[in-house]
Amino acid sequence: MTDPDRTHDVVVWGATGVAGRFTAEYLTERYAPEDLSVAVGGRSPEKLDALVDDLTRRSDAWDDVPVVVGDATDPESLRAIARDARVVCTTVGPYTRYGSPLVEACVETGTDYCDLTGEVNWTREMVDRFHEGAADAEARIVHSCGFDSVPSDIGTLLVESFAAETFGAPCETVRIYLDGGSGSVSGGTLASFGELFEAAATDPVARETLRNPYSLAPNGERSGVDPGAQRWPRTDPLRGGWTAPSPMAPVNERVVRRSNALLGYPWGREFRCTEVVPTGEGVRGAAVAGLVAGGLGAFTAAMSVGPVRSALRRYAFPDPGEGPTREEAEAGHFRIGVRGRGTATDGPFTVEAEFGADRDPGYGATARMLGESAVCLARGDVDSPLDGGVLTPASGIGLPLAERLRAVGFTASVDGVADDKRS
Ligand SMILES: NC(=O)c1ccc[n+]([C@@H]2O[C@H](COP(=O)([O-])OP(=O)(O)OC[C@H]3O[C@@H](n4cnc5c(N)ncnc54)[C@H](OP(=O)(O)O)[C@@H]3O)[C@@H](O)[C@H]2O)c1
Repeated sequence: MTDPDRTHDVVVWGATGVAGRFTAEYLTERYAPEDLSVAVGGRSPEKLDALVDDLTRRSDAWDDVPVVVGDATDPESLRAIARDARVVCTTVGPYTRYGSPLVEACVETGTDYCDLTGEVNWTREMVDRFHEGAADAEARIVHSCGFDSVPSDIGTLLVESFAAETFGAPCETVRIYLDGGSGSVSGGTLASFGELFEAAATDPVARETLRNPYSLAPNGERSGVDPGAQRWPRTDPLRGGWTAPSPMAPVNERVVRRSNALLGYPWGREFRCTEVVPTGEGVRGAAVAGLVAGGLGAFTAAMSVGPVRSALRRYAFPDPGEGPTREEAEAGHFRIGVRGRGTATDGPFTVEAEFGADRDPGYGATARMLGESAVCLARGDVDSPLDGGVLTPASGIGLPLAERLRAVGFTASVDGVADDKRS
């Protein structure tokens, strides 16, 4: 992995943006410089200096925070930053537009890496271009370390690890439920969303990536029994009640399937994973599921039409750099349930995990998920058979991430019982 002589444990690249600033604030408030050497990076020295003033004002432990300057479009500057870091933790997005040269620099210099991408078309490109090289260089390139896709991916890992330990068998079916939440969205996230739809309109590989539920699996393994994301209201086969499609399912389900593949299919080749929004029982539950599915369908249809997409991006979406305030990011909450069903030699069993936090999922909570992912990588606090590659949170870091998040107030619990003992 990494050279112990590198100057910085973690470089927060994109620290002047919305998510990057929250991540830099979190790391410098949680860790003292002697425990974790953090640097902040970006393209504007003036903005970085102002950020450092702010960070040192907020935290007694930090008299100064080192700054690294470069540009996402200047590969030599990125190589210099990566060479001097144990981990580069990046929030410079849209990743489809700005992300690839940094991944390349980290692979070339054998540097661990984590990000916040939900742009599955881009993750697919990174898998195809860099997985082998990253594995050879022992560089862990861990995508989607925020609200996409830590709760779903680590939640599934919690369920499957409990099943293996307690029942000696995997859960062949896992369902992920967005049980509750409130939060906000930044201009950078909406710009990334726009970029994903742009790619789907113009790039056949991106279209295939969004069509194929196994598109993030290793090349040669991109098919299977799982039909992919739910598109219409349906009653839930494990919990009962009505469910609607989850807006994050196209990302999270693919990430979870990639985890299973990279770990060598410990959850089985017939593993099925579906993420949904539960909407309740009876007529009301069905009506709400219909409204959620209809709203999501209408938004997807609008974003798929070029002129409508351009108009929304230009006139309706906030600009990149705009987003929640610190107070807003520290408010909000989310709760994700993960339920798995398997069959052991003694009969069927059910395992259930809960993952959540009392902070805005995309910002206050994401800053902690990304920050702690970087800390796990910097300290080698990982539980994974893989030393390198283009990885997922579950396959690249594993359960130590859940443990670290519990220590900063997240819920990450799991329990299970044989079906004949359920009350
Ligand atoms: N998965 C999740 O839960 C989650 C949550 C939040 C965000 N995200 C993702 O994170 C990404 C960032 O979102 P955000 O709201 O923080 O965006 P943002 O506020 O627009 O920040 C983008 C950052 O990129 C920097 N940047 C832009 N062009 C650059 C270049 N050529 N070279 C170097 N730096 C450059 C900006 O620097 P300047 O300040 O100099 O402009 C800024 O620091 C997006 O892709 C978003 O989708 C994901």
